[in-house]
This record gives sequence, C-alpha cells and structure tokens, in this order.
Amino acid sequence: MASSSIFALFIFFIFLLHRPFSSNANLHQTRLFVSEHVSQAAPTEVPITRYFEVSRPIQVPRTKPCSVLVLQHDFGNTYGQPPVLAQYNPPLNCPSQDFSKIVLEWNATCKGRQFDRIFGMWLGGVELLRSCTAEPRGTGIVWSVKKDITRYSSLLKNPQTLAVHLANIVDQTYTGVYHVNITFHFWPAEERPRFQKPNWASSVYGFGFPADLILPISRNLPLNDGLWFLVQNSTDVQLKEFKIPQNAYRAILEVYVSYHSDDEFWYSNPPNDYITANNLTQVPGNGPFREVVVSIDGTVVGAVWPSTVIYTGGINPLLWRPISGIGSFDLPSYDIDITPFLGKVLDGKQHQLGFSVTNALSVWYIDANLHVWLDKQSARTKGKLIKYDVQPPVMTLVSDFNGSNGDFLITASRSFLLAGWVKSSHGNITTQSHQYFAYRNTMKFGNNGNEQIVNQTTDVNASVYSRLPSRLYFMDLSRRFPLYLYTNFVDQGNGTSTSVSNLSLGFNQQLFSHGPFGFSRGNLINLQAAQGSMIVKGNLVTSGLGSTQQVYTYDGKDGCYFRKVSSRNYTILYDQIERSCKRKLHPSLFLGVNKRPFPTRRNLLASDLHDQEKQV
Ligand SMILES: *[C@@H]1O[C@H](CO)[C@@H](O)[C@H](O)[C@H]1NC(C)=O
Ligand SMILES: *[C@@H]1O[C@H](CO)[C@@H](O)[C@H](O)[C@H]1NC(C)=O
Ligand SMILES: *[C@@H]1O[C@H](CO)[C@@H](O)[C@H](O)[C@H]1NC(C)=O
Ligand SMILES: *[C@@H]1O[C@H](CO)[C@@H](O)[C@H](O)[C@H]1NC(C)=O
Ligand SMILES: *[C@@H]1O[C@H](CO)[C@@H](O)[C@H](O)[C@H]1NC(C)=O
Ligand SMILES: *[C@@H]1O[C@H](CO)[C@@H](O)[C@H](O)[C@H]1NC(C)=O
Ligand SMILES: *[C@@H]1O[C@H](CO)[C@@H](O)[C@H](O)[C@H]1NC(C)=O
Ligand SMILES: *[C@@H]1O[C@H](CO)[C@@H](O)[C@H](O)[C@H]1NC(C)=O
Ligand SMILES: *[C@@H]1O[C@H](CO)[C@@H](O)[C@H](O)[C@H]1NC(C)=O
Ligand SMILES: *[C@@H]1O[C@H](CO)[C@@H](O)[C@H](O)[C@H]1NC(C)=O
Ligand SMILES: *[C@@H]1O[C@H](CO)[C@@H](O)[C@H](O)[C@H]1NC(C)=O
Repeated sequence: MASSSIFALFIFFIFLLHRPFSSNANLHQTRLFVSEHVSQAAPTEVPITRYFEVSRPIQVPRTKPCSVLVLQHDFGNTYGQPPVLAQYNPPLNCPSQDFSKIVLEWNATCKGRQFDRIFGMWLGGVELLRSCTAEPRGTGIVWSVKKDITRYSSLLKNPQTLAVHLANIVDQTYTGVYHVNITFHFWPAEERPRFQKPNWASSVYGFGFPADLILPISRNLPLNDGLWFLVQNSTDVQLKEFKIPQNAYRAILEVYVSYHSDDEFWYSNPPNDYITANNLTQVPGNGPFREVVVSIDGTVVGAVWPSTVIYTGGINPLLWRPISGIGSFDLPSYDIDITPFLGKVLDGKQHQLGFSVTNALSVWYIDANLHVWLDKQSARTKGKLIKYDVQPPVMTLVSDFNGSNGDFLITASRSFLLAGWVKSSHGNITTQSHQYFAYRNTMKFGNNGNEQIVNQTTDVNASVYSRLPSRLYFMDLSRRFPLYLYTNFVDQGNGTSTSVSNLSLGFNQQLFSHGPFGFSRGNLINLQAAQGSMIVKGNLVTSGLGSTQQVYTYDGKDGCYFRKVSSRNYTILYDQIERSCKRKLHPSLFLGVNKRPFPTRRNLLASDLHDQEKQV
C-alpha cells in the first residue's frame, strides 16, 4: 500500500537509521537481534577502520605547538545526563603567549554497535564544535577531527569550563562506548613577516583578527541536555538575553544549527497537501524548505539557509564508511554581520536574540556566538542603523500528484540589506551587510510513493562593506549547496525491506575579501557522490553495499589543495592528493563521468553486518 510504504520509508529514515535523541522507547523495543555478537566477532587480524571527512589540512606556523589535553572521557550511557565538564586552563608554560594558530583536535575510538550521535562542545558557553560521531564496527573504528579555533582566541586566554554533550545509549544491543580525547594545540607566532601582526593602524576594525570578546548565545548550565536551544515547530521562538559592552564597534553573530528527528531529512519532507491527500499521519511534512531566522528585540536581522549535512547513519549508513559525509564531522557555522544594528544595542541594557525556523518540525538544535570587537581607546562608541530593507521570503509551491505519485517544485528567495554607522576612536565606520538567498527543490514520488527523487540547490551570497575613514574593507562570500537524492525503499511485507539510494552532495564556496592584509580569495568545490543498497530487518541493516566518491578542490591565495578519493565496501579504491596550484580539474567533470555499476545486487554482506544477520 502506498500509504503504508511511505509510512515505512519515513519511519525507516527517522527511527531506524539516525536514532533521534528522543526515541528511546523505540530503541529499546528493538533489541531482539543481539546477543553479544560483538565480543564473538572481531577476529583479531581485522584492522581497525579509520573514518575521515575530507577537508583541507589546517595550515600552521613552523613553530612548535604547546598542547593541552582538555578532556579524556568515555561516553557510555550518557543519555539524559548533564554535559561532561572539565576545567580548561591556557598553556601558561608555553615559551610565548602570542599564538597565531589554535587548533582543536578530537580523537575517538569506538567498538561494537552504535548509532550516530550528535554532539556539541562549548567553552564558557561558547560553542566550539558541532559534530556527529562515526558509527562503529564490531572490529573497532577510530577517527579524528581537527578544527581551527583561532577565532576564539580571546576566550582561550583565560580559564574556562569546557562542556561536552554527547547523548549515547549503551545496553546489550547498542554496545559502542565512545572513548574520546580532546586536545587544544597552540602555535606561537612565527618570527617571519607572513605571521607578523601589522602595526596598530592597520590592525583595527577586526578584519582578519579574532574578536576581543565572544558572548555565548546558548543555554546556561546546569542542564541535562546540550547547551543548544531546541526549536520544535514553526512558531517556536527561542530567546536569549544579552548585553553588549558600550564600546563595541563591530559584531558578528556565528550561528550553529543541526536538525534531527522529524526534520533530520527536512529537504525530503513532502508538502502537506500530499500528506493530507494520501492520509499519511506519520510522515514528516511541511515541505522541504527551511530557514533559520535570527532576530534582535523582535526585528529580523539575518537568516541561515542551511547546507544539507547527512549524518553518518543517514540514508544508508554504509555510504559513510570510511569517507564521512560533507560537514558531518565538523558542521558548518554561519556568520551574520550585525554591525549595522549595533546602534540599537549599545545602550548598556539587556537585549534579546531570537531563533526560529520557518516550517520547522521537531527538532532543531540552534545556538550562536556573538563575536564583538571593542574600542580599547574609549569607554563608549555611538552608532545608528541607517538602512533596513528586509522582506519576508518569497516562496512558491507547484504540486502535481495523483495518489502517492507526483511532482513538486518548491522555490524560495529572500534578501537582507542592513546599513549603519559606528563612531569609535577608529573613526566613523559605515557598514553595509547584505544577504541574498535563492532556493529551488524539485521532488518526485514514483512507484506508489516508494521511490523519491529530490534535487535541491541553495544559493547564498553574503557581503559586508565597511567604509573606514581612509579605506574600504569588504568580504564577499558565495555559497552553493547542491543535493541530489534518489531513494527506492520497498517493504517486503515480512519484516524485511530493501533500499536503494543514490545521492550527490556539495558544499561549494567562493570568498573574496580585502582587509588589513590586502586582498584575499579562496574557492572551494567539494562534491560527493554515493550509491548504496541494503536490506533492512527490524532496525538493522542485515546486508548491503555502499560506494562513495569525493573530489575536493581548493584554490586560494593561501595555497591549493586537491583530493580525489573513493571507497567501496569499507575499502579505499583510490586516494589522490595534490597541493600544487597547477591542477585545474573541475570536479563536476569527474562526477559526470563516473561509470561505476549501480549496486543493486543483494546479499553482499559487509563483514560485521553479516554477523548481525546470523543472530536473527
Ligand atoms: C590523534 O590521532 C591522530 C591520528 O591517529 C594522531 O596523529 C594524533 O597524534 C592524535 N593526537 C593526540 C593528541 O594524541
Ligand atoms: C587518549 O590519550 C590516552 C593517553 O595518552 C591514550 O592512551 C589513548 O589511547 C587516547 N585515546 C584516543 C581515543 O586517542
Ligand atoms: C511549538 O513549540 C513550543 C515549544 O515547545 C510549544 O510551546 C508550542 O505549543 C508549540 N506550538 C505548536 C503549534 O505546536
Ligand atoms: C486514514 O487513516 C486512518 C488512520 O490510519 C484510517 O482510520 C482511515 O480509514 C484512513 N482514511 C482513508 C480515507 O484512507
Ligand atoms: C490517477 O491514477 C489512477 C490510477 O493510478 C488513474 O485511474 C487516474 O486516471 C489518474 N488520474 C489522473 C487525473 O491522472
Ligand atoms: C557617521 O557617518 C554617517 C554617514 O556618513 C553620518 O550620517 C553620521 O552623522 C556620522 N556620525 C557621526 C557621529 O559623525
Ligand atoms: C550570487 O552571486 C552570483 C555571482 O554574482 C550570481 O550569479 C547569483 O545570481 C547570486 N545569487 C543570489 C541568490 O543572489
Ligand atoms: C537538478 O536541478 C538542476 C536545476 O536546478 C539541474 O541543472 C540539474 O541537472 C538537476 N540534476 C539532476 C541530477 O537532475
Ligand atoms: C521477505 O520477502 C522477500 C520478498 O518476497 C524475500 O526475498 C525474503 O527472502 C523474505 N525474507 C524473509 C526473512 O522471509
Ligand atoms: C545512480 O548513480 C549512478 C552513478 O552516479 C548513475 O549512473 C545512475 O544513473 C544513478 N541512478 C539513479 C536511479 O539515480
Ligand atoms: C566486502 O568486503 C568483505 C570483506 O571485508 C567481503 O567479504 C565481501 O565479499 C565484500 N563485498 C563485496 C560486494 O565486495
């Protein structure tokens, strides 16, 4: 039946693959299949698998780093528990306290069976990392995440409380305990011109320099949850009071978002008219368009149109082993320059930041960091918002369906323009901040609703122009997030389902800026394609095969990086890395010519999955 198969499709997505934080009850109903297979399996000769997300290695100075182990912890049965806390102290015994690069390193191992778990890391309430754990194997896995946290320098100069929230469940079925080390590495500045600070005159205005102060826009401890806010529906507005120092002259709001449960796959949610017509009560709807809206004292100041991060258990977990989905180990954060709005909040009083999500279903995890630059020469700055041009999003929906088959076209667009001046000891600086968004999603249901094809593109252009007394600084950022997703899910009617999926996913970015270091540019094209098939019984993948290809091309003023890598059935087929700037291979060529046979064969067992089936 169409309705029951769609029901199954989404139940499958939501409850079987990416165990949402709130679905404990379902989770514990499904322990039927396990009886300590993990300890019996795992022949010792099978090596530990190293999972990874493809990204450009962080460039660091040639100095010797000072490293601080900030947390060593085993995340076992942590569901419903408060975040794990640790005292952070800066590396006071380091030869120099002048650091030009600070890098966070997360190293983890896990063995057994476990779902992908979202986690967050906060220092003094400021979010440093939003990430997703890798799903382990019976034979064990290891993975490492590195993130440049230099922009949080001002925070890292003082002792702080580190909080890590990772809600895991460990029982007889879900045996994976995450063993984690978190280390911060501090690189003293190099005695070379490239890393020397420019003189005072050019180092003002925050361009290219970390903020003087970072205000946490997150929930306060103590909590039995993450420090993120939970946005549960389209009318839910989560608010946080904040007070900004009266000598601020520049402010950027960095927003972290992730989506779970009914909205984990928001980009594939059908429109409500389809759901109503087909009497589908359990299918998450509200269509596929989402917008995170940020307001100050009730006035909308900017938005985030998110990229589509697929967590390590998403769509087909076999796709993400060992190459993880784009953004899954280091979810992107999104900057909104609110400097033009400073004039409204420099009065020394409490103000309110608000987060909401257009069309949201439960649940979105959202919080933010407010990066603030302070005028060290004066106790008060003065400012005024001089232009505010923000229209609601223009959204269209074209529906054409008969029963559970049909086509949809959903589009949206929006622009923001804010301008304002701030007068400080650096002079009277006028800042214009623009955000332009365009979104298009075509969705097709066939095969009585069993088959779904989603083709979505989100375009974001953001620019900030700051007119200083003697020069113009600017930043122009363009991003495109393409997504193509094919899934065919067939319930065999005997507790077994088959699924075929094919997807491509991208995070492309162009950045062009002018600041105290002169002009800078960096172009990134990061594309993944993946094909998978699997047979699912209850909530376990009993057999299947996943293949993934990725091309990452970065070309910037600060160097180049190219990586082309492919995996199939847990094995890397090829892995090519180049650092020279000579190569000009456009990844779309590669993705277009991939002629790998489409994996529809059944009974191709991944080793640890085979063991699970034997238990049934
Ligand atoms: C983290 O793991 C990587 C990869 O195994 C290793 O090179 C690095 O030294 C580890 N970091 C720490 C702080 O142990
Ligand atoms: C964490 O650090 C300890 C001590 O250096 C080491 O024994 C352990 O293997 C590390 N664990 C991970 C997951 O890197
Ligand atoms: C939306 O979510 C909020 C917060 O959980 C809740 O108070 C409110 O009742 C919900 N509204 C609707 C229409 O469900
Ligand atoms: C709609 O679903 C409900 C609950 O499953 C069922 O009772 C009802 O008969 C269905 N109606 C139609 C028209 O299919
Ligand atoms: C809808 O589909 C049914 C059978 O699948 C068919 O009989 C009917 O003509 C279709 N309606 C339209 C308007 O195409
Ligand atoms: C700052 O510059 C703007 C635009 O040039 C002007 O309208 C405003 O009056 C100036 N503010 C001060 C305090 O001079
Ligand atoms: C973003 O900028 C590019 C290049 O200027 C332009 O082609 C595109 O239409 C812009 N997109 C939006 C959504 O404004
Ligand atoms: C997806 O849609 C875009 C237009 O938005 C189109 O150019 C592209 O070919 C489509 N991709 C696929 C695989 O159909
Ligand atoms: C379930 O049904 C499918 C299709 O009829 C069949 O291939 C499969 O072997 C069945 N599985 C079980 C466990 O009965
Ligand atoms: C799946 O992907 C392969 C390779 O990218 C492609 O050739 C094939 O047409 C795709 N199939 C579907 C149903 O999208
Ligand atoms: C996948 O790899 C396992 C061994 O790791 C092997 O037994 C199995 O046959 C492979 N499957 C395919 C389809 O290549």
